[in-house]
Parts: sequence; structure tokens; C-alpha cells
Amino acid sequence: MVALNIDTNDIVIEAWNTVLFDKFVRFKHLVTSFSYHSDEAFARHPFPDDARVLDVGCGFGDCAIRIAQEFAPRGKVTGVDCAQNFVSAAAREAEAADTANASFFTADVQLDDLRGPYDYAFSRFGTMFFMAPGAALGNIRKALKPGGEFVQIVWRKREDNPWLFEAEQCVKEIVPVISHEDTDEVHCGPGPFSMADADMASSMLQGVGYDNITFERFDADIFIGRDIDDAIDFAMELGPAGEIIRLAGEEGQRLKPAVIEALKETLKPYLKDTGVWAPSSAWFITARNPD
Ligand SMILES: C[S@@+](CC[C@H](N)C(=O)[O-])C[C@H]1O[C@@H](n2cnc3c(N)ncnc32)[C@H](O)[C@@H]1O
Repeated sequence: MVALNIDTNDIVIEAWNTVLFDKFVRFKHLVTSFSYHSDEAFARHPFPDDARVLDVGCGFGDCAIRIAQEFAPRGKVTGVDCAQNFVSAAAREAEAADTANASFFTADVQLDDLRGPYDYAFSRFGTMFFMAPGAALGNIRKALKPGGEFVQIVWRKREDNPWLFEAEQCVKEIVPVISHEDTDEVHCGPGPFSMADADMASSMLQGVGYDNITFERFDADIFIGRDIDDAIDFAMELGPAGEIIRLAGEEGQRLKPAVIEALKETLKPYLKDTGVWAPSSAWFITARNPD
């Protein structure tokens, strides 16, 4: 049993199951466009067609379903998420897509049984929100077979992700920042850049028993809105900018019009004929459970 502050983690699970789930539903058209990243990771790190794969922090399950249909049609793909609402949505999507070899269950990856053994674990932007990342990464390793591999996609540093960073800076100039410790509001956990430091992330992976740790940088323009208004909504609702506004409560809501005006200028350079596209930068991290 891993020693954890369960109360703190309850807050994070509650956030993913309620306010963040609702936001992800609203911006599903943008969130699922991260398939560009996962498709590239699948191409670089293909699964054998009979692989048993765990999708960590599976969200709507689109990665798990794609792996089950395209890459491991003779295998079994299991999606796990701490938020029951995501798990139910993923199960519905798999059923609608007639994907019998994908299934889903609700668990806290930090401490619950992950129902292994798996040949592979995979996660697209699902490992950056753990309150106890070492415990979670260690628990995932224990669910892998000896020699099993964990492939995760995480954001690299803020400065190379202006779609999140510039919006955050813009909001911070207008809205007072309330830290997680100073509020009773539910929150998402550490945040999108918590695995960005390769030295820190590799030490943590090594510390919980992985070997053969590699980092590959993947830069790509990402779709952040159908138009400027959609991109502003996205920035204000999700990511660090959205969290600052939400945690500031009434004051955050009062300052929203000023934030909207400022974000218009910030996001304008990224408007193209096909929508709003901004540069982004991620790591593909691979790590192996030793034989
Ligand atoms: C940014 S979303 C990514 C979802 C999905 N992988 C994708 O790419 O669309 C992060 C996901 O991790 C899940 N998550 C956060 N902490 C978790 C935990 N301790 N155990 C299991 N899932 C967790 C959240 O509920 C959420 O669905």
C-alpha cells in the first residue's frame, strides 16, 4: 500500500469527474485533435497485433479504441481513469465503435490494482496530473510484464507551448493567482508541465525501477480553436489560464471581459484559414520494466 494523502487526491478525482469532465466534453473537438500526437507515437513505437495494452488516464478512450482497432486487433486494450464519467463515456464509445477488445475501468492509478500484467502501458497527456507521480509510475511498472514498455506523451516546457503559456501569462497579468493550497475548490493536480523537465522525469522513472528510459521531442502545430472566439473559450476554460480564472472565483468571473480582450491579441497571430493553430512541443517518453 502506497502512503498518500487520500483527501488531497479525492479533490483531484472529484475535479476530473465534475468540472473538468464537463469542460472536456465541451471542448472534445479540440482534445481529440491530440490524435496527431498519439498517431505519431504509435508509428514510432508500434504495438504487436496481439499486445495487451493499458491506456493510463484514458479520458474519452479514443487512444484505447484506436490501439484496439488498428494496432492490436488480436490483443486486449484496457483503459483506466480515476473519473467514472470518463470511463462510462469511453465504454459507450467503444460499444458504438463495435470494439470488443477494448474495455475500461475506474481506478486511481496511484494506488489501485491495475489488473495487469500488460505488455505495454501507454498514456497521452494522462500522467502530468498525478498528486503522487512516483507512486503512480511505480504502480504502472508493477502492472507491466518483465520487459514490458511504458510509452507516455507529456508536454515539454512552457516556453515551447505558447498556446498554454502565453494564455497563462496573459491571464496572470489581469487575474490574481490563488494557489491550490489556498482554496477549497477542487483542482486538476500538478498541471500540464509537471513532467516537462527530462532530468526530473527520468530520475523519477529510474527511482521507481524503470530502465532504458528515452526522451524524443515532438513538435507540432496543434488545433486550438475553430476561430478566435473558440480558442479564447478553450484558453479560459482549460489549461493553466482556465484554472487561474476558476480558482479566483467571483473575482475571476468579474475580470473575464478584460481577459477576453487581452487573449484576442495574444491568440491572433495563430489564426489561419483552417482555424487557430499554435506551436506545441511534447516528449515521447519510453521506459521499460526490467526483465
Ligand atoms: C488531460 S486528460 C487526458 C485524457 C486522455 N488520455 C487524452 O489524451 O485525451 C488526463 C486524464 O487523466 C485522468 N487522471 C488524473 N489523475 C488520475 C489518477 N490518479 N488515476 C487515474 N486517472 C487519472 C483524468 O481523469 C483525465 O481523464
